Amino acid sequence: MAKKITFHDHKPKTLSLQDAVIEGFSGRYKSIPPKFFYDARGSALFAAICEQPEYYPPNIEQTMLTRLAGEIAELTGTGRVVFEPGAGAATKIRLLLDALKPVAYVPMDISCEFLKQAAAELVDEFPWLPVHAACVDFTHSLPIPETVPAGPRLAFFPGSSIGNFSPREACEFLTLVGDKIGRDGMLLIGVDTKKDPGILHAAYNDAAGITAAFNLNLLRRMRNEVGVECEPENFAHRAFYNRELGRIEMHLVSRCRQTLRLNGYRFELGAGETVHTENSYKYAPEEFLAQASRAGLRQVRHWVGERGLFALYLLAPA
Ligand code: AVI
Repeated sequence: MAKKITFHDHKPKTLSLQDAVIEGFSGRYKSIPPKFFYDARGSALFAAICEQPEYYPPNIEQTMLTRLAGEIAELTGTGRVVFEPGAGAATKIRLLLDALKPVAYVPMDISCEFLKQAAAELVDEFPWLPVHAACVDFTHSLPIPETVPAGPRLAFFPGSSIGNFSPREACEFLTLVGDKIGRDGMLLIGVDTKKDPGILHAAYNDAAGITAAFNLNLLRRMRNEVGVECEPENFAHRAFYNRELGRIEMHLVSRCRQTLRLNGYRFELGAGETVHTENSYKYAPEEFLAQASRAGLRQVRHWVGERGLFALYLLAPA
């Protein structure tokens, strides 16, 4: 069978880590956007987080997708164009392909080399599947390549990546997806739920220290790639559930009073001062459906996994 694969580089403009550090360290509260976690080492650490017993989302979502593939396909029908913003290694879509039988699959990711490799591996495994890979910053645009056949669309956004957006950004993103899928389109999205804070706390403070290494890797990147004079050992990982805002917050805590230097800039940190590195919002089903409705989407069906720990939503334009 002839394998079909096309690649479209939309040359996403990326904020450099240096600019992010200067911008994020200049204000009263220091922060760095979470997208800087994912260099090669950070991506490998994230893959290791997904293997930790405390970090429940991947396991539960995969079990749900495997169990529900047939039911989802009954609701969506087969033969859609499936696109996946932030597809990464395109692991989870594999669980649905035989049931959904898409006419085309469009993985979208900001990392072009990684995307090419993931697309090549996918067509090796599913030679019948036309793959049209698009290198884009999916938070800004979702360009469907012109090589993709017409037909009803299904957007796939697993892993609760929506939780890393602020509620306003999440609404904007859902609106963008709604525009892209069109009137007969659908969105299948995985979203982490609100739950016992003890379970959340353990998930972001695993006993093996992998999440801590993932968080602290930002400082190694700042030092090795940008030349920031800093000692990663002078920082500690902190992750906690902010009940009021319904989110896990990750921070790097300065263990002492210190000055970080970069190209003539000096950033003073007091002992105990933090650099905010990530938010991971958790949504009760009614909260997420209200959010979807603000973005013009309605529920077709939703499913809640084992012990209410994770949810999958199939949405369509309202
Ligand atoms: C990618 N994202 C959905 C993960 C999360 O749970 O918010 C990133 C992560 N951060 C620490 N552990 C996992």
